[in-house]
Amino acid sequence: MTGIKFAIATEMINRTFTDRVIAPSLLAADFSRIQEEVSRSIKAGADWLHLDVMDGHFVDNISFGPAIIAAIHATNDIFLDVHLMISRPDHYLPRFVEAGADLITVHVEAEHNISETLDRIREAGCQVGLAINPASPLSEALPYLDKIDLLLCMTVVPGFGGQSFMSEIMPKIAEAKAYREQHDLSFHIQVDGGLKKETAPEAYAAGANVIVAGSSTYQAEDMATAITEIREA
Ligand code: DX5
Ligand code: ZN
Repeated sequence: MTGIKFAIATEMINRTFTDRVIAPSLLAADFSRIQEEVSRSIKAGADWLHLDVMDGHFVDNISFGPAIIAAIHATNDIFLDVHLMISRPDHYLPRFVEAGADLITVHVEAEHNISETLDRIREAGCQVGLAINPASPLSEALPYLDKIDLLLCMTVVPGFGGQSFMSEIMPKIAEAKAYREQHDLSFHIQVDGGLKKETAPEAYAAGANVIVAGSSTYQAEDMATAITEIREA
């Protein structure tokens, strides 16, 4: 980890879950010019870069892997939020650590020993994230909430960008927030899927503070305006 990277990671630890964090999802970028797209999102005010890794098995799509993340890491200092939508996150974990991930999020629905994988992410020096699909109740994540820095509540069925936001997930977010307060925990609550200035207010109201936004940022007329509008929504 470079000095700057370390400072950014430390800053993330120190962020409270009342700070709003906007993480554009690279999945919606123009893949023929990835480096320019990363620079464009940094200039536009992105706090983190959300990197969606898909294996064609856990979800019905294939995106990119550690080599692309390493290339982004080599030339940028932005905080790398890596969302693993893969069946065996435990097997591939070291490659994403090596690639320069700052935060690694794994799914409760994947085939692994969740507790062990979360411990390994922490031991590798990365921030620890746990994701739950729309169909999974919060109860599946409860045993692990004291181990994580971030809970990702999916607001679409994962696999593709550009889907519609599922408002019906908001009670699960409110439940997670209440549980966090009752148990004096301190994880961020991230939402992913269908976020834009019109849907972000619902997510904030329920208790989310980290917003992943793909199509609504990369495909906006002006990315900086789009990010600001989501942050201030
Ligand atoms: C969906 C991915 C999302 C996706 C979001 O499987 O996890 O991060 O890129 O895209 P939008 O913001 O377009 O819904
Ligand atoms: Zn994602």
